[in-house]
Amino acid sequence: MLKVFGALVVLGLAMAFITSWVLDTYDTARHPKRSVQQLAAGDGDDTKGSSPPFPGGELRNIFWFVQVSDIHISRFHDPRRVPDFEKFCTDTIEVIKPDLVLATGDLTDAKTENKVGSLQHEVEWQAYHNILKRSRVMERTKWIDIRGNHDAFNIISLDSINNYFRKYSANQKIGSFHYVHETPFGSYSFVCADATLTPGPKRPYNFFGILDQAQMDLLDRFRIESLKSNQTIWFGHYTTSTIVSPASGVAYLCGHLHTLGGLMPVLHSRHPHGTLELELGDWMENRRYRVLAIDHDLFSFSDLRFEQWPAVLITNPKDAQYLHPRVEPLGRIRRSTHIRLLFLHVC
Ligand SMILES: *[C@@H]1O[C@H](CO)[C@@H](O)[C@H](O)[C@H]1NC(C)=O
Ligand SMILES: [Zn+2]
Repeated sequence: MLKVFGALVVLGLAMAFITSWVLDTYDTARHPKRSVQQLAAGDGDDTKGSSPPFPGGELRNIFWFVQVSDIHISRFHDPRRVPDFEKFCTDTIEVIKPDLVLATGDLTDAKTENKVGSLQHEVEWQAYHNILKRSRVMERTKWIDIRGNHDAFNIISLDSINNYFRKYSANQKIGSFHYVHETPFGSYSFVCADATLTPGPKRPYNFFGILDQAQMDLLDRFRIESLKSNQTIWFGHYTTSTIVSPASGVAYLCGHLHTLGGLMPVLHSRHPHGTLELELGDWMENRRYRVLAIDHDLFSFSDLRFEQWPAVLITNPKDAQYLHPRVEPLGRIRRSTHIRLLFLHVC
């Protein structure tokens, strides 16, 4: 482990994948791994995870990505929000080196100075756009940003001149879509459920997103397409308690509720068919972000705070609270030979 740190110092910043080093200090027989094994065995499904690849000591069959939500770039409030976010796009992303980043809505604040009214401010969008440009984050990772309710305030139609999302976002795509992340070891689906209303009413009338039948049909098509992928992640701005639940797949990632004024620091739940709904706290006030990994088709995540290092994510054995036996090859945990974790640190 010290060796790795040495390497990190030389690099100045880095990512390390630690496997066998921690094994010595980690008694696998008496740790959570055991309950994971039992759960996996108790599932009675020997086909899910009984075939290779099995997690071992090499940096293989894994990729990781980042989620950030509710950035709320504002021309009036919190002058640190913009420079901090720029630092996130440069330094944090440079350390983590994710394959992709999901920015799940409310990119801008779009409020009037007294916080009561709503208005699309072009300068807020320009600030967002400039951060993406200056940080060159889009050259270093795939940046997928989607609209939130604030990004649709007061927009009369998608062609409106004040629909700045079209002009200044990375994605510029309105509506739901299906993106397939191809890797040498498999295909991974990312399905966006865009429930943002267009035309966008004023505050506070667009707090609830809505999916109409045509949009539900589209999402169903994506669901069927995504069955070919090794794993599927759904994402959107709204929690499914404020839209009709479309989710299937291993997890649905969203934002929107921030942390409800501190009342709900974490909002993780599970749908009837096992899909995890993982709401992420906001960037706006709480500077939250999330690192997620798919390791040998096992899904794991860790909710983190900007500039708190090291960032650690254990990918095998994954957290037993978040097992999804229907879609994850949990048998691989039992057949794995190493504890695997992402250890992300700046020096
Ligand atoms: C992804 O799916 C393909 C096809 O089913 C399979 O051959 C491959 O091993 C899977 N990848 C991983 C990491 O399990
Ligand atoms: Zn928000």
